[in-house]
Amino acid sequence: MSEFTATPASAPARVSVIGLGLMGSALAAALLNAGHQVTVWNRSPAKVGILAAQGAVPADSPAAAIAASDLTILCLTTYDNVSELLEPLADSLAGRVLANLTNGTPDQARTLAAWVEAQGAAYLDGGIMAVPQMIATPAGYVLYSGDEQAYETHRATLAALGGTRWTGTDPGFAALYDMSLLTGMYGMITGISQAFAVMRSANVPAAEFGPLLENWVIAMTQGLTADYARALDSGDHLTDVASLGMQAPAFDNLLDLYRAQGVSTDLFEPLAALFKRSVEEGHAADGLSRLAELVRK
Ligand SMILES: NC(=O)c1ccc[n+]([C@@H]2O[C@H](COP(=O)([O-])OP(=O)(O)OC[C@H]3O[C@@H](n4cnc5c(N)ncnc54)[C@H](OP(=O)(O)O)[C@@H]3O)[C@@H](O)[C@H]2O)c1
Repeated sequence: MSEFTATPASAPARVSVIGLGLMGSALAAALLNAGHQVTVWNRSPAKVGILAAQGAVPADSPAAAIAASDLTILCLTTYDNVSELLEPLADSLAGRVLANLTNGTPDQARTLAAWVEAQGAAYLDGGIMAVPQMIATPAGYVLYSGDEQAYETHRATLAALGGTRWTGTDPGFAALYDMSLLTGMYGMITGISQAFAVMRSANVPAAEFGPLLENWVIAMTQGLTADYARALDSGDHLTDVASLGMQAPAFDNLLDLYRAQGVSTDLFEPLAALFKRSVEEGHAADGLSRLAELVRK
């Protein structure tokens, strides 16, 4: 997988954006700001006006939007929405490039890619690693997979949205990377939610506890993924920092605390069980990276 690509200068291109929700509107605005000629379509016409006021050309239909540009970006709620929108247009897709930035699974991306390619069009799948406010800022980037030639042709234009990162010709890979990154994010949110719940149950103001939690999470994740990567790629999970055998009993204390404070144990019981299993299966001397192997089984 290539490294992030810095935003190269791009000659004005014709780009269409279908779907002007919170994210699609941000994408269209970023393309306009970069000087591209942007055609837009949205199911509810009300959302078109704001982009039109910024210089976008409203299309009468999805077919007209796709016909207006070499590259069409789709950003709807689900892949089913995208398929329902495209299927009636099958005969008019040949020669077009469709970049679908809708959130979905790798298999959904592969199925849609095969269908789009069968119509004679090129398919790019994208995973947006940003909220709308991060689009076109250094903090946001988009993962791409699928038709590499289409990616290379339109990379400079797509760079208007933020960083670009190629993940491979398997169209499912952008979604695979995207969902794995989201997994890390939601796991972190699980822990943060539980920690606040415990402190709230003891009437500690969230504003007082928040900075401590933030510093702790940052300190504990510093270097952690690099440690995981080293251990997972070498197969050597032995640790001289903090063993699973040391940490597993702490989960009995955590679960006891949650019960005593009237806080649900639901989120943490599976994690407690995983730590317990790590010891039962003989991995007491290993570090946290062993958990990633145990989850795979
Ligand atoms: N917002 C984020 O932070 C974020 C971050 C990363 C990825 N994403 C992904 O980006 C995609 C769009 O998110 P969003 O935040 O823009 O959502 P949103 O504000 O709810 O907008 C959804 C868009 O999909 C359209 N749509 C839904 N069903 C449709 C259908 N059957 N036919 C035609 N259009 C349809 C909506 O049209 P109407 O206006 O007519 O309802 C609207 O344009 C999602 O897949 C989301 O997971 C969002």
